[in-house]
Amino acid sequence: MIKRSKIAGTGSCVPVKVLTNKDLESMIDTSDEWITTRTGIRQRHIAEPDENNSDLAAEAARRALSMAGVDAADVDLIIVGTLTPDMPMPSVACLVQKALGAWNAGAFDVSATCSGFLYSLSIADKFVKENPAMKILAIGSEVLSRRTNWQDRTTCVLFADGAGAALVTGSDDQSGLISTCLHADGKVWDLLTIRGLGTAYPVDQDLLSKGWQYIEMKGRDVFKHAVKALESVANECMERAGWNNDDLDLLIAHQANIRILDFLRERLNLPSEKVFINIDKYGNTSAASIPIALDEANRGGRLKKGDNILLISFGGGFTWAGVTMRW
Ligand code: ACO
Repeated sequence: MIKRSKIAGTGSCVPVKVLTNKDLESMIDTSDEWITTRTGIRQRHIAEPDENNSDLAAEAARRALSMAGVDAADVDLIIVGTLTPDMPMPSVACLVQKALGAWNAGAFDVSATCSGFLYSLSIADKFVKENPAMKILAIGSEVLSRRTNWQDRTTCVLFADGAGAALVTGSDDQSGLISTCLHADGKVWDLLTIRGLGTAYPVDQDLLSKGWQYIEMKGRDVFKHAVKALESVANECMERAGWNNDDLDLLIAHQANIRILDFLRERLNLPSEKVFINIDKYGNTSAASIPIALDEANRGGRLKKGDNILLISFGGGFTWAGVTMRW
């Protein structure tokens, strides 16, 4: 029988600096009331100028390794989901390898926006199924504050910084990943994008004056796509695991908007204690949001041995994904 892959340790790391809705009131034309009711966000963590994506990712990884009792030297592969790498080259994963001294690990980044962690976890799952002795760090890490236009109230109240990591290896029992579902729709790429700083457009005054170095989002359209895709991938993934809604013990969805989470709770007919929420503390940290939530749930005693967990994400691209696992 093919062994399952399981998460043997989790870790997360957010910058110390906190930016509250009240702080934003003094920066732009907004209010704590608007942000809280429309998004559920009360505060977010923002990196200091000398704090980089790879610093947060490496610290989250150290904590996951420590929980799993695994030495950095024994890590075989590091996969980082991110849309805000330190630089185009090298990958964040290579910088994490250096920071950890994980000299025996291969390393690469995955570009799947907010689904970056679930894409990374799904890739890790395939490697471990082939070789259950492998130890793989799947990480989601972002410094979105440096790709946010702090004059644009429609986006700057949403996005934030942080990292989460999971150490994935072979399972000795029935615990572990059961189904993985990956999806994308490039037709609507322009509803959520950072146009500039790739190779399509020159970095010149024109690009900077258009604000193309920053996140652009058609919020309402994204919202409509997100709720549809998340509900659909939740059902697809549970069906492939042979579960119905009653079998689910905890849903951890991408923390993008409390109204999306409420919608999912209703549509999937789940009581509120089965839907994990921490968007109030961290805002939308894109690829980092699910592994941060997973680590909080794990360390907070919300995950019990044998629990059925569903992870689902949605982000620019569009990309969306789901993973079911038995804890
Ligand atoms: N403060 C005060 N007013 C604001 C703010 C703000 N920060 N932002 C927008 N407004 C105003 C708008 O200007 C608009 O005013 P108008 O009616 O006078 O034109 C009004 O509020 C309503 O704006 P909408 O954009 O229609 O507000 P909506 O209820 O759609 O909420 C939001 C906006 C929160 C962005 C929502 O659309 C959303 O969450 N979309 C989905 C985002 C998402 O899911 N992203 C996940 C994937 S992406 C990723 O994670 C990287």
